[in-house]
Amino acid sequence: MSSPPSNCERLATCTVAAVLLQILGLSLFVIGFFPVKPTLSGLSGAESYRQPTSPGSVEDGRVLAPDQRRSLYREMSEIPPQFDRLVIMVVDGLPAELVLGKGNKPPTKAFAEAMPYTQFLLSSGRAIGYHAKAAPPTVTMPRLKAMVSGAIGGYLDVAFNFNTQALLEDNLVDQFYNIGWKMVMLGDETWIKLFPGLFTRYDGVSSFYVKDTVEVDHNVTRHLDDELLSNDWNLLILHYLGLDHIGHIGGRHSILMAPKLKEMDDIIKLTHKSAILHQDKTGSRTLLLVVSDHGMTDNGNHGGSSYEEIDSLALFIGLEAGCPNYTAATQNSALQIGTFID
Ligand SMILES: *[C@@H]1O[C@H](CO)[C@@H](O)[C@H](O)[C@H]1NC(C)=O
Ligand SMILES: *[C@@H]1O[C@H](CO)[C@@H](O)[C@H](O)[C@H]1NC(C)=O
Ligand SMILES: [Zn+2]
Repeated sequence: MSSPPSNCERLATCTVAAVLLQILGLSLFVIGFFPVKPTLSGLSGAESYRQPTSPGSVEDGRVLAPDQRRSLYREMSEIPPQFDRLVIMVVDGLPAELVLGKGNKPPTKAFAEAMPYTQFLLSSGRAIGYHAKAAPPTVTMPRLKAMVSGAIGGYLDVAFNFNTQALLEDNLVDQFYNIGWKMVMLGDETWIKLFPGLFTRYDGVSSFYVKDTVEVDHNVTRHLDDELLSNDWNLLILHYLGLDHIGHIGGRHSILMAPKLKEMDDIIKLTHKSAILHQDKTGSRTLLLVVSDHGMTDNGNHGGSSYEEIDSLALFIGLEAGCPNYTAATQNSALQIGTFID
């Protein structure tokens, strides 16, 4: 004969059940919130820019010199390039609102006056700007990875933000390297950790000293004159951290913000003028792409998904004078990368 369970036994059963339920719930949360994304190794090849049905592909494993790879790529891609060189200038943490305004409102007078050259490029149709909505987490390393690979990272990337490892997924920088591009990187050393060995020349700055708003940018700009004069590169990456640091110290309305925007405007002017000179001399065209990885709140924080934090900038500056349609498109918003669904 079995006796009815004592109170004590019933309590134990309930406790065990409750603990199991807790564990189940926690695992569901962890798996959902930190999804482990399998890394797809390998790089996409010629098939990705040709009609899938067209015959032929690069199969021979010969090691080609960069020059040969560049011309082979041109031959195979069958798409005449619009530009010969690309300058990517990342202004860390720059909210698009500071440059483009918000809705139908132009940027505030102080910020617009701090960037006269950029505003001239926009109003004359020489540049087109987008509010490029970034996917959270709005933190530098995951955003850089997303921009070059087109894939959204998980929240786990935040944990690795200070311990960056080489990017193994297919991405633009590796692709550029594979087609023989010479690349130069100046600025946030995250790039150098993500792409070890791919840059011909580089000078990384550390983002560790958040109080430093001057040297982090000076260390980038000090090489700029030389790099703009040398015409051996196809891709030049500049990553300025100072503006993000100003946000962390004093927020969007820090008294340092307008002077920093002016400094960035001067870099854009210098680079754009040099690209025009370069085209006059050699006929090669340069696309200048000014982007930010994420925005910031009024207090200068970022990481989350508020409008202020995801409102990052994508500014395309070509060399051709005046396309009137550009100006109208300036209030357009786009997604920073394609796969992020609003
Ligand atoms: C800037 O460059 C100097 C000299 O190369 C170096 O000592 C300093 O640590 C650099 N600053 C940053 C923020 O990386
Ligand atoms: C863009 O410009 C073309 C001609 O230059 C014009 O036909 C077209 O209507 C314009 N589009 C918009 C949206 O203004
Ligand atoms: Zn950043």
